[in-house]
Amino acid sequence: MIFGAILAGGVGSRMNIPDMPKQFLPLGDKPIIVHTLEKFLTCGRFDCVYIGVHADWVTYMNDLVKKYTPSSADRVRIVAGGADRNGTILNIINDIESNYGEDEKNIIVTHDSVRPFVTIRMIEENIDAALEFGAVDTVCAAVDTIVSSEDGKVISEIPDRSKMYQGQTPQSFRISVLKDLYNSLSDDEKKTLTDACKICVVRDFPVHLVEGSITNLKITTTGDYKIAQAMLGCLKAED
Ligand code: CTP
Repeated sequence: MIFGAILAGGVGSRMNIPDMPKQFLPLGDKPIIVHTLEKFLTCGRFDCVYIGVHADWVTYMNDLVKKYTPSSADRVRIVAGGADRNGTILNIINDIESNYGEDEKNIIVTHDSVRPFVTIRMIEENIDAALEFGAVDTVCAAVDTIVSSEDGKVISEIPDRSKMYQGQTPQSFRISVLKDLYNSLSDDEKKTLTDACKICVVRDFPVHLVEGSITNLKITTTGDYKIAQAMLGCLKAED
């Protein structure tokens, strides 16, 4: 079976807005997370699209699904998120296994709720590559030179730009692979995880690359939110 997992368990602290997590802010005529959900529902290949939200926002999210995507409500399931992003993914996996059982072939397409401009092409390629390879990341070739600095004051290294990419989402996995690799990590290794693909990289499990886009923006700050509002009109015609 194929599951979507929209990760919305964060509170958006870098956005500095007091009332609600950033994924619920309006973007055009509907909340950011509804744009994201609609992309997943438009791709007809998911058996169920999960949304992991902070426990305080489960009812609110349920109401959004009923209001904006009523005809697909039976294909959407909302669960409480975890303490961090990987915790939210694990909560979703636990619910999948309680409701649908375990199957080695099951795959999960995880995606940040705050990347509403993901395209159907990216989602489809994630599904195909996850079925074939077991682990997938969506990346964008670096356009700027990447500079690394150990102390934040002087440059330590300038890696070859042709080998540099920016990691985006979706990130997709065979669920059995992700779970086995995660369970094999020590507590110290778990602390080093910045995203789900790193679970694979730490254990040398190859992660296949799918091409993302600079337009697959992650709304992190108020500046990103303004850019997203400006992009909305331009991207309407895209899938
Ligand atoms: N996320 C999640 N569960 C968490 C934390 C984050 O599902 N416990 C989700 C966020 O809701 C978001 C995505 O992971 O869709 C990317 O995270 P980020 O942009 O860092 O979101 P926040 O954690 O909400 O933002 P901040 O770090 O500014 O607080």
